[in-house]
Amino acid sequence: MADERVKALQVRRTSRLSGFYRQTPERRRARLVEARWVTPDEVDALAGLAGFDEACADAMVENVIGLHGLPLGLALNFLVDGVERLVPMAVEEPSIIAAASLAARLCAEGGGFTVVTDPPITTAQVQLLDVRSVADARATLLSMAPVLLAEVDALIPAMRARGGGARELEVRVLDATTLVVHLHVDTRDAMGANCVNSVAEGMASRLAELTGARAGLKILTNLADRRTVRVSARVPVAALVTENFQDGVAVRDGILEAQHFAELDPYRAVTHNKGVMNGVDAVLVACGNDWRAVEAGAHAWAARSGVYRPLTAWRVGGDGALEGELWMPLATSTAGGAARTHPGVQRALKLARVSGALDLAALAGAAGLATNLSALRALSTEGIQRGHMALHARRVAAEAGASGDLIEIVAERLSRERVYRPERAREILAAEVAQLRGGCP
Ligand code: MEV
Repeated sequence: MADERVKALQVRRTSRLSGFYRQTPERRRARLVEARWVTPDEVDALAGLAGFDEACADAMVENVIGLHGLPLGLALNFLVDGVERLVPMAVEEPSIIAAASLAARLCAEGGGFTVVTDPPITTAQVQLLDVRSVADARATLLSMAPVLLAEVDALIPAMRARGGGARELEVRVLDATTLVVHLHVDTRDAMGANCVNSVAEGMASRLAELTGARAGLKILTNLADRRTVRVSARVPVAALVTENFQDGVAVRDGILEAQHFAELDPYRAVTHNKGVMNGVDAVLVACGNDWRAVEAGAHAWAARSGVYRPLTAWRVGGDGALEGELWMPLATSTAGGAARTHPGVQRALKLARVSGALDLAALAGAAGLATNLSALRALSTEGIQRGHMALHARRVAAEAGASGDLIEIVAERLSRERVYRPERAREILAAEVAQLRGGCP
């Protein structure tokens, strides 16, 4: 028993790496080794593009002339279903990784993120045209559903062997002569586009023949509404206070007003959802997933009532805490595609201990709820520019030649003075260096 506890303690890792943001990339990688997130053998590959070369890129897409890089960062403080997680994010916009880490810390105060995922169902659509009686055709197809699903399974033996396969046949009437057949397939850890596109093409003539119709398009739908993720979190009001806003109840109520605004106004809801997708997409890009598919599905889902609405809902919980939920389609993949061909993607998935597609959806969803919370908290208190300017100040300090702890010292002075000119950064840096040398320039 005691041995088991010792073992459990040995594997327990923390995603709370204090002071991480102030360190150099090299020192951050060393911290990952110290905290046992990666082994000393693995750590060097995290720097640069190790293994992702022109040959690899050339095998992925067409007309390759070079490689394109993005910063890869880690969002910290994520407690997801009781487990500490590091969340890899690849993104060009400053503040997103900091925002995710900050909100994850607030959510951890309330027990972290809780996630419920649907099974990994991807849906093929087959369009049937020139149908004489849509009602009869629909009845025929539904009565033959078990046979047709077995035929689908016969087309995808490898997916069947992995535990996936055909799950349901649905028929939707689009107009007096047009039907669409939905073939819902469990595609396990694959996003499933290739699999269900083959299914759609493989089944189209059979479906057309059975209904006396003409087959039209055969393709998956990206409105993956059978493959949603629900992420919830709770933040005690005491955790919501900021340096300049010490009343947690007022901060909570400001977030609720922001939520109300998004519910009333599609112009605001779009920006609200952009804040969600900041987190979701950055995780998807780091993990080599089809973020365009998820974006398309997310916005269609947001408009499913006929009005474009926010993807998240924030409300007051029983004990006065702020409670939030994100609910959206999130079709992810950890098998095939870039997960098989891109070494950087493989490293990101390994570092984040991603166990499969649903686990990746859970992480991306948690990141989306987190970036949304951070945005609403900042917007309803000091505004987002303060955080942006703090990051800008760090960049100016680094460009002026500061490194290590000096970046933070110089940036802090620039922010206090609200002056972000490079020459001022150089002056402050020179004064600090002189002071460190005991007053001798
Ligand atoms: C900026 O990338 C995202 C925000 O505009 C989101 C929002 O307004 O909720 C800050």
